[in-house]
Amino acid sequence: MKREFLCLFGMIAVLFGCTGENREREMDRFIDGLMGRMTIEEKIGQLNLLAAPGDIVTGEVQNHNVLQAIVQGRVSGVFNLKGCDNIRKIQRIAVEQSRLGIPLVFGMDVIHGYETTFPIPLALTATWDTAAVRQAARIAAREATADGICWTFSPMADLSRDPRWGRVAEGIGEDPWLGAEMVRAMVYGYQGEDPSSFATDEMMACVKHFALYGASEAGRDYNTVDMSRVRMFNEYFLPYQAAVEAGAGSVMASFNEVDGVPATANRWLLTDVLRDRWGFDGFVVSDYTGVLEMVAHGIGDLSEVSARALQAGNDMDMTSRAYVDTFVESLEKGRISEEEIDRACRRVLEAKYRLGLFEDPYRYCDPEREKTEIFTPQNRAAARKIAAESFVLLKNENDLLPLRRGGTIAVVGPLAASRENMPGTWSVATDLKAPSTLVEGLRTVAGAETRIVYARGSNICHDEVLERNATVSGRAIPRDGRTDREMLDEAVRVARSADVVVAALGEPSEMSGESSSRTDLGIPDAQRELLEALVATGKPVVLVLFAGRPMTLTWEDAHVPAILNVWFGGTEAAEAIADVLFGDVVPSGKLPSSFPRNVGQIPVFYNHKNTGRPLGDRTGFVKYRSNYLDVANTPLYPFGYGLSYTSFEYGDMALSSDRMGENGSIEVTVKVSNTGTRDGVEVVQLYIRDRVGSITRPVKELKGFQRVSIPAGESVDVSFTITPEMLRFYNSELEYVVEPGEFDVMVGTNSDRVQSARFVFE
Ligand code: BGC
Repeated sequence: MKREFLCLFGMIAVLFGCTGENREREMDRFIDGLMGRMTIEEKIGQLNLLAAPGDIVTGEVQNHNVLQAIVQGRVSGVFNLKGCDNIRKIQRIAVEQSRLGIPLVFGMDVIHGYETTFPIPLALTATWDTAAVRQAARIAAREATADGICWTFSPMADLSRDPRWGRVAEGIGEDPWLGAEMVRAMVYGYQGEDPSSFATDEMMACVKHFALYGASEAGRDYNTVDMSRVRMFNEYFLPYQAAVEAGAGSVMASFNEVDGVPATANRWLLTDVLRDRWGFDGFVVSDYTGVLEMVAHGIGDLSEVSARALQAGNDMDMTSRAYVDTFVESLEKGRISEEEIDRACRRVLEAKYRLGLFEDPYRYCDPEREKTEIFTPQNRAAARKIAAESFVLLKNENDLLPLRRGGTIAVVGPLAASRENMPGTWSVATDLKAPSTLVEGLRTVAGAETRIVYARGSNICHDEVLERNATVSGRAIPRDGRTDREMLDEAVRVARSADVVVAALGEPSEMSGESSSRTDLGIPDAQRELLEALVATGKPVVLVLFAGRPMTLTWEDAHVPAILNVWFGGTEAAEAIADVLFGDVVPSGKLPSSFPRNVGQIPVFYNHKNTGRPLGDRTGFVKYRSNYLDVANTPLYPFGYGLSYTSFEYGDMALSSDRMGENGSIEVTVKVSNTGTRDGVEVVQLYIRDRVGSITRPVKELKGFQRVSIPAGESVDVSFTITPEMLRFYNSELEYVVEPGEFDVMVGTNSDRVQSARFVFE
């Protein structure tokens, strides 16, 4: 009976409610009808999200009888369960055995690809290629939906200027504007551009972690955040807002507090800002045990924090089981109202409706697509191309790179022969045995004429406990039983026998990501000693740096002739690294975050304020200026930095006018020439500075960029249009304004190397 009821409504929706308003009206009618039949327990059940039992479980594993709860209608969705068969089985229980047969929603952390894994999000951002990022998300959606998943906990829109925080790996770097571009591309890639309905190969996005999770004190995960509202609105909020405006169907509340109230129970954040200001009309889910954790935050017992979360606008409870355990009693005691439960329940049902689950609860489980559309050669080819685009060439003395084929290459380092390490953190659906090791990738791409020899050289680090903690989640890199001396001697011997050394060093993939904060951002000690020994051989050394965050590379920059930062490039990383090392692909990635000279400089970011005592362009220490006695203010590698195998020169930039009115615009044009011998891609960057404002404004802010492909010896004219929209900011009343006055426009190859001109907005 109940199934017929749901199917009937589903059919009506299909027949009459095809698009737009009609569909929304049909949805309202359908949900009114359904909710009219739901008990209060069933409504509360729709607010309860559980992790998959006995499968890939992230966070703290909990012991609960999920299946029984599904039959009772007390579960809304399950996440991180993999495979059509598994998902079908669980869905069937919900649809056929629960009283109303409401389908479950199946989520997963599809963060940077599904089985075909793309570079970690920070690296995707380093491509500065929104089309590529959208394509990666699109492929992720096609694969995940072929396997039963219709909801991803991505994109992560947390701006961060603190690389001690391990989750910078999952984010969009230090810049609000670049970050906004990236998350918008991801949302469109996952969902398409019409958030009111989903095709069977599109999945619902969840923008997270709202808000400010990337600004935790001291870069320690889950730590307190305290920030001015002006900074929130002008900087940290922009990527979340962009994702919401792109139509993200859901938002995840962050673990941290905002203005003294944990985000999960922060009404100002989840209702005033998110819904009233930005017009969000999807549902909000807590983070993993985020509701329960508010007891430890110290704002009440479980009933109290659960009620506060619901009333603030947190609709769904992820894994705390706090809503299902407390709401009936809270309702009886008048702590919460039925309307509040209804409101949250309706939002969740709306999402299920838009996903088409009432029409066909199995529409994302297509065994045929599961067999033919996952980890395909085409998807892998796209991942390989995008991975190569994400690498950033940090140094290349005397054009050591690209490597020539032929001769002997020594590949050395504890990360060179690992498969599991390649995809990077949060690759939940990846088959960790699928990627090639770097040694294999180099052999494949180099061809038979090149001899590749390998030595491990060291363990990850001397400290066994640290090493164990940084190689978890199936990413074990077993320690070598030999002594440090034996490993080092072998590596030096192998290096001496070669023409060039490729040192594959850095962080193992779980040294960044969730719960992986660090206070030392150097290459771990044992590997650094190995690198010193390799450099001391006198052989040319190329450092292939694996990193989930900006690292401190001051010694390396001074002593190693070539450094290619490869982040974690996904399942095709090894071949992509080889493509770039051998010059089949010319590197074009640019840093999405400044690389500090040392940890003491953190936070160091390009879009800072000027202060009353700026150091400006002066070098060396200046007393009574804002600077350090012992280190420069500048980072080692600035935001937007990245070299190529060719060279680019910028001509003088020209402005179409030096004045702009309210409805006007200014064209900025610059000639960029490829003065080298190889075709290359340059990311041309546009920055603006508001000289005088009612509040202080940053010394520069990215407002545009273009990836331009320039053949060797040729030039292209690159143009940007400056509009008043680009000059707007939130004033101290949090009004979004543009103020008349002088502005600097800057164009260049990175945030530090720009040319500048002035215009007036009147
Ligand atoms: C993370 C989220 C993730 C969730 C579900 C949490 O620990 O903070 O980013 O989406 O787990 O796996």
